[in-house]
Amino acid sequence: MLFLAAAFIVAFVLLLYMVSPLISPKPLKLPGAHVVVTGGSSGIGKCIAIECYKQGAFITLIARDENKLLQTKKEIEKYSVNDKQVVLCISVDVSKDYEQVENVLKQAQEKLGPVDMLVNCAGTSVTGKFEDIEVNCFERLMAVNYLGSVYPSRAVIATMKERRMGRIVFVSSQAGQLGLFGYTAYSPTKFALRGLAEALQMEVKPYNIYVTVAYPPDTDTPGFAEESKTKPLETKLISETSSVCQAEQVARVIVKDAIQGNFNSSVGSDGYMLSILTSGMSPVTSITEGLQQVVCMGIFRIVGLFYLGSFDSIVRRCMMQREKSESADKTE
Ligand SMILES: NC(=O)c1ccc[n+]([C@@H]2O[C@H](COP(=O)([O-])OP(=O)(O)OC[C@H]3O[C@@H](n4cnc5c(N)ncnc54)[C@H](OP(=O)(O)O)[C@@H]3O)[C@@H](O)[C@H]2O)c1
Repeated sequence: MLFLAAAFIVAFVLLLYMVSPLISPKPLKLPGAHVVVTGGSSGIGKCIAIECYKQGAFITLIARDENKLLQTKKEIEKYSVNDKQVVLCISVDVSKDYEQVENVLKQAQEKLGPVDMLVNCAGTSVTGKFEDIEVNCFERLMAVNYLGSVYPSRAVIATMKERRMGRIVFVSSQAGQLGLFGYTAYSPTKFALRGLAEALQMEVKPYNIYVTVAYPPDTDTPGFAEESKTKPLETKLISETSSVCQAEQVARVIVKDAIQGNFNSSVGSDGYMLSILTSGMSPVTSITEGLQQVVCMGIFRIVGLFYLGSFDSIVRRCMMQREKSESADKTE
């Protein structure tokens, strides 16, 4: 029995090595490449644009607020590595009208050439208890976070397929890997990106196009500061169980993974564990990644169950405290 198990493991590892040349993409060369970043005027998107610009890319920034875009353009230009580099700004809402998004991306491609890498980073968040969130917030978040990634990707995919090259990045969230208290409107929009990414990757892989889904942890950005103002106590306490990352660090990891063509992009030890735990039937881009998933899945599930238990107890404690103070108020 032991011999059979050992033989199975050896055969599995050999098989993985045999298929390795088929699964490892060639890294994308950023110098001279055209990188489009939606949500590029702030937070993680801005840092991704800076990181790509520092590596010699031409940048198109997409967001709604023109002033913020121009300010960011000036900031990015400080990092130029050659005098030919350009930062183009486009003001458009990525979630409203597909034809408008398609048109502006056409114009960007006429100016800076076909898109080599598209980073879908525009996004927003609302937290609160399910019954307290306005119904239109569910619709708005799905429009911005999900459709706002579908539209730009749909607008560039035909050219990428013709050129048989390209990278598409979807910026999801750790809340797109597990559902947490307070995120009933946000989490589903980020889970949806994973489904889109898996299906799209299978379609475009033969065209040498690689899709990356990034799962950032809590990251210090203007968006995060805004979200924190209205977070329920439970969500705050659960979030505090891990630290807040810097946007520059998150951006560096996302850019590196996108260049390599890695499907999963995570930051830190919690991010690593979550990515292994939720790997399911997602594509792998290296043998080591596949092996790590096979070996670590079981043990990480045990650790994950402890986390879930502690989150449940936070929620229960908050509920009991709330009920206690409500009944004290009534008796007064
Ligand atoms: N910060 C975190 O803790 C965290 C964690 C996990 C995942 N994420 C995800 O990472 C992404 C960036 O987050 P962030 O914290 O860096 O956010 P941020 O600082 O608020 O920046 C959001 C960017 O998206 C743009 N944007 C928003 N709605 C848009 C729309 N409808 N059309 C075009 N552009 C739009 C914003 O510019 P305008 O407002 O001018 O349009 C801005 O440039 C989001 O998808 C977020 O869900 C963030």
